[in-house]
Amino acid sequence: MKRNNILCIGAGYVGGPTMAMIAHKCPQYKVTVVDINHERIARWNSDDLPVYEPGLDEIIRATRGKNLFFETDIDKGIRESGIIFVGVNTPTKTFGAGAGKAADLQYWEKTARQIREASESPKIVVEKCTIPVRTALAMERILTSKDGDIRFDVLSNPEFLAEGTAIHDLEFPDRVLIGSRETPNGLEARKAIVDIYLNWVPREKIIESNIWSSELSKLVANAFLAQRISSINAISALCEKTEADIAEVSRAIGLDSRLGVKFLNASVGFGGSCFKKDILNLAYICRTYGLEDVANYWESVVDINEYQKERFILGILDAMFNTLAGKGICLFGFAFKADTGDTRETPAHTIARRLCEEKAELVITDPKAIDNAKIDLQDVDGITYEPDPYKAARGCDAIAVMTEWKVYTELDYQRIYDSMAKPAFIFDGRNILDHKRLHEMGFNVYPIGKPPLVHFT
Ligand code: UDX
Repeated sequence: MKRNNILCIGAGYVGGPTMAMIAHKCPQYKVTVVDINHERIARWNSDDLPVYEPGLDEIIRATRGKNLFFETDIDKGIRESGIIFVGVNTPTKTFGAGAGKAADLQYWEKTARQIREASESPKIVVEKCTIPVRTALAMERILTSKDGDIRFDVLSNPEFLAEGTAIHDLEFPDRVLIGSRETPNGLEARKAIVDIYLNWVPREKIIESNIWSSELSKLVANAFLAQRISSINAISALCEKTEADIAEVSRAIGLDSRLGVKFLNASVGFGGSCFKKDILNLAYICRTYGLEDVANYWESVVDINEYQKERFILGILDAMFNTLAGKGICLFGFAFKADTGDTRETPAHTIARRLCEEKAELVITDPKAIDNAKIDLQDVDGITYEPDPYKAARGCDAIAVMTEWKVYTELDYQRIYDSMAKPAFIFDGRNILDHKRLHEMGFNVYPIGKPPLVHFT
């Protein structure tokens, strides 16, 4: 078995960085990444990588052409590899049964069929993408549905990396989860994957489980993280009514070691490719098993996220005298979080559209996400895109902070204030600015979950 040849099908946010780390830490393995998208592969082979992650360039430069290869011949890759990671995308279905909720498994299934057709020797097939629990069973059925005696072992090894910190998360993971069938073959295949990670991950951080637990854990981890954000955001609404301060509440509860301090920052809402998709998928699975109440419970996490975005818009409208028509509003940030150019499910997208509906004149600035913002909003006329935040805010009536980029905490706000229309407003959708100082300069400041600091009586 060609166990030292690893293939990854899917050169996206998960496949690219993960395989780069494996190649970097395991020089004895040859790692090949393939994708049907030739342009994406060409970019992985260039200096302009399709994914922006701090530290990724260096690792790619150190390994590409040595033991890391980006190629387009998927069949050849399958034939030559003993271990195949599947990292194709599983977006939310947009059609038919489960539209808007279930995972769209068409790319994933095509990949399984392609592995079956091209294989001439035994393979360990590892699910890396997020998929519904019990998908491995379907994959096993497809792989073994052809006459022949090739052995396929299907494993689950979900990826927990977060964007913007992918390289750090891969190098120092909290845990690596590897699930397999608990048969002799399944356990042997599991050991082959454990051996890869043992090259740099301490043994106690490599967790083994049955395959269904592994598949489900990925969905549940994301659901719990998102639930924390929706919980704190729900409380931010109550803080605004009661003069409590959400930052003080977060700190007070986070110091309870049972709760922990992370993921308690109130915000304009969570975004990213995973949280909403995975929760809706989890709820859909619950419903297919008749667990209506459980499904409703998890769906409410997404409902609160939508509520938080709408609440932010209504707050802007209310503060700015119930009309935004013709007013300049500058969005500071469009990415769904800092240190990434990714805009999938970014709250800024919803908010930009809503502001345009209110006939505001929108200016969008972001250090990395302007190109994606232009694509996301290509059907909306009249938006200005400006990389320089000083130029972007000039002449505007309001700034709305959408993304917690560090650069926005370091700007000369006096200079910005002087260049804006008056009265000038700041809506800090991430609570990252020094609100007191901004207020002293003359801004009317509206944080999330804290009393506003205004100059009107
Ligand atoms: C997430 C999971 O963290 C990761 O483990 C999984 O593999 C993929 O999904 P990611 O989507 O990259 O990662 O971003 P994450 O850092 O989790 O943030 C998600 C969203 O929540 C962002 O919009 C972020 O700004 C927001 N967020 C996060 C908050 O609003 N408040 C917080 O306290 C934390």
